[in-house]
Amino acid sequence: MPLVANGVGHVYRRGEPGEAHALDGIDLTISGGEFTLVGGAGGSGKSTLLHCLSGLLRPTKGTVRIDGPAALSIQFPERALFADTVLDDIAFGPLNTGLEKGEARTRALEAAGKVGLDAGLLSRLPRTLSHGQRRLAALAGVIAMRPRYLFLDEPTAGLDMAAKERVVETLVRLNREGTAVIVASHDLAHFMDACSRMLVMSRGKVVFDDRPDGLVSLDDTMGLALPPSLIVARWLRTRGIEAPWNIGPSEAAAHIRRAHEGLD
Ligand SMILES: Nc1ncnc2c1ncn2[C@@H]1O[C@H](COP(=O)(O)OP(=O)(O)OP(=O)(O)O)[C@@H](O)[C@H]1O
Ligand SMILES: [Mg+2]
Repeated sequence: MPLVANGVGHVYRRGEPGEAHALDGIDLTISGGEFTLVGGAGGSGKSTLLHCLSGLLRPTKGTVRIDGPAALSIQFPERALFADTVLDDIAFGPLNTGLEKGEARTRALEAAGKVGLDAGLLSRLPRTLSHGQRRLAALAGVIAMRPRYLFLDEPTAGLDMAAKERVVETLVRLNREGTAVIVASHDLAHFMDACSRMLVMSRGKVVFDDRPDGLVSLDDTMGLALPPSLIVARWLRTRGIEAPWNIGPSEAAAHIRRAHEGLD
């Protein structure tokens, strides 16, 4: 059975100063095999949606049904690392679900391997790792829980190119192995090829739910920070030229030249 959200709404601080209507009437079905990217302007409700779907936050309206273990990795999860060694930190989740120590350790080692964390780092104090290494360790921590659904809030924020690619590759592999991955991110360029489905949030509602390349023909992109190639593809489309969202510079230049010749 998939994850099903029915009429989900969330209001923070209802009736108090600062009341915020963060989610409004979300109906959503997410199947096991999907890789979903959630985009939208700041404050549109992405994090709140992930928190409600994963069970961290109880929606003030509607219901969420989920049929297996879910794990949520919050924004900047590396701040939560606290154990004496990186390996203990990764094993914390599985230990907490009642697994015996040896098995939790095995899972932690396996997860560290999956995210490509260097074995030499596992005996170090978590706070001695670099920012990117800590992020990978935190990701290993949620993977070690072997969730059916993995929710990640801005997993690539503040990472360098190589670390971003490592995160995306890891998630693609996990998804192929059967984990449903739901990522909220402003970093569209890194996830558009990886995801099978894209949601765009605006003012607490899902205003776009389609294959990611559908953004090429979307009229209003609702404050999304679009990758440059997608901006070019959208412009070409207004000139009657179909181009993929990730069109390269030389191909784009040839199209633009032809489009201008057509104007002469
Ligand atoms: N703990 C909170 N208390 C009160 N209001 C909140 C709280 N968390 C979020 N909000 C409000 O709810 C709305 C949605 O916030 P949310 O964090 O879900 O947006 P977001 O799309 O994740 O934004 P960003 O891209 O900046 O991370 C915003 O108006 C925000 O100010
Ligand atoms: Mg957010």
